[in-house]
Amino acid sequence: MSTTETILIVGGGVIGLSIALELRLRGAEVTVLSRDLQQAAGYAAAGMLAPQAEAIPPGPMLDLCLWSRSLYPGWINKLEAMTGLTAGYWGCGILAPVYDIPPSLDSDSRAAYWLDRHAIQHHEPSLSSEVMGGYWFPDDAQVDNRALMRSLFTAVQDSGVTVQDGETVVALLHQGDRVTGVQTDRSTWQADHYVLAAGAWSGDLLPVPVHPRKGQMLAVQAPTGKTLSLKQVLFGSEIYLVPRRDGRIIVGATSEAVGFTPGNTAAGVRSLLERAIRLYPVLETYPIQELWWGFRPITPDEAPILGFSPYQNLALATGHYRNGILLAPATALLIADMIFAGKTSPLLAHHCHTRFGFKEHEST
Ligand code: FAD
Ligand code: GLY
Repeated sequence: MSTTETILIVGGGVIGLSIALELRLRGAEVTVLSRDLQQAAGYAAAGMLAPQAEAIPPGPMLDLCLWSRSLYPGWINKLEAMTGLTAGYWGCGILAPVYDIPPSLDSDSRAAYWLDRHAIQHHEPSLSSEVMGGYWFPDDAQVDNRALMRSLFTAVQDSGVTVQDGETVVALLHQGDRVTGVQTDRSTWQADHYVLAAGAWSGDLLPVPVHPRKGQMLAVQAPTGKTLSLKQVLFGSEIYLVPRRDGRIIVGATSEAVGFTPGNTAAGVRSLLERAIRLYPVLETYPIQELWWGFRPITPDEAPILGFSPYQNLALATGHYRNGILLAPATALLIADMIFAGKTSPLLAHHCHTRFGFKEHEST
């Protein structure tokens, strides 16, 4: 494509904004339309960069996640240099304690380092005495996802991307196999290329198999200045604790197939608190700061849908499920390479929507 062509991105979450920035830095004219920037799962997330702790099985998805994790420090440096705003990247590692020792440690592909009971209690003295051991993933990390979203948004705006917040795309208009515009609740927009990055809502605009998977979260405030304070992420069974540098600890998350039902529930919050206190008992005295929830965009195989769509000039970047924060830099590069140079890396090909049986067009 010529760099003066125009690109319209539907969705201003972490994926839409990351793609917008990459395309803009390569010289394109980019517009982002988003119903509600604050509704994005990017604000609700925990910010773990955790391909190993999340136990993603070996294969293209793990390759994609590991590559994206490796891109993170450079990507954050670039964002912070552009904006002067911190994005809270912290290479703190992730500790995954267990209450029962797995039957076979050697065959567990997650096992970067196994710590026995003595070693793990030494590593994190405030862990529950029920913990029998755990995995240590020194290369998994975290980013303060809200700070990241602010930094990304500022970089996108400063670089000259047009961001239209509060505008809902109600239909993709098309003639034959080309998208000719998008109809919003206010007007019609046209561009040469389009990207669908509407997260859990993507299925409203195209029959992609993407659905919401709700996650409830809460935050507590650890006393600051105490040596007890958590220094790495704890990733337990159906619970994780993500400490921020200011003493805030993010506790997550439920995983509920309840559609777009909003709100925190008593049962959701109880399950988070019970599991968190069991794993890290000192937390029971920490004041609760905040409760919130968000919608992960899940696909049938829990991997994203990237690249070609049924329309020649529409790219898909959706369905990042539990790992959209992690996958933002890699997704941005892959989609920009595809739109600019028609490049289809094996990672893109593996994540094409056609794996779910839809028809494909091979140009942009
Ligand atoms: P979103 O961030 O949801 O953004 C979609 C945007 O599109 C929204 O702003 C929405 O308003 C807009 N939109 C939707 N429909 C339309 C329309 N019709 N017209 C215009 N705009 C529209 N990932 C990690 O990597 N690490 C984590 O630790 C992590 N923890 C998580 C914890 C929770 C509780 C949740 C919910 C998610 C978590 N995730 C995590 C997943 C991550 O947040 C998502 O995968 C990621 O945010 C998806 O990004 P997205 O841009 O595709 O979608
Ligand atoms: N990746 C953590 C979550 O989705 O809850």
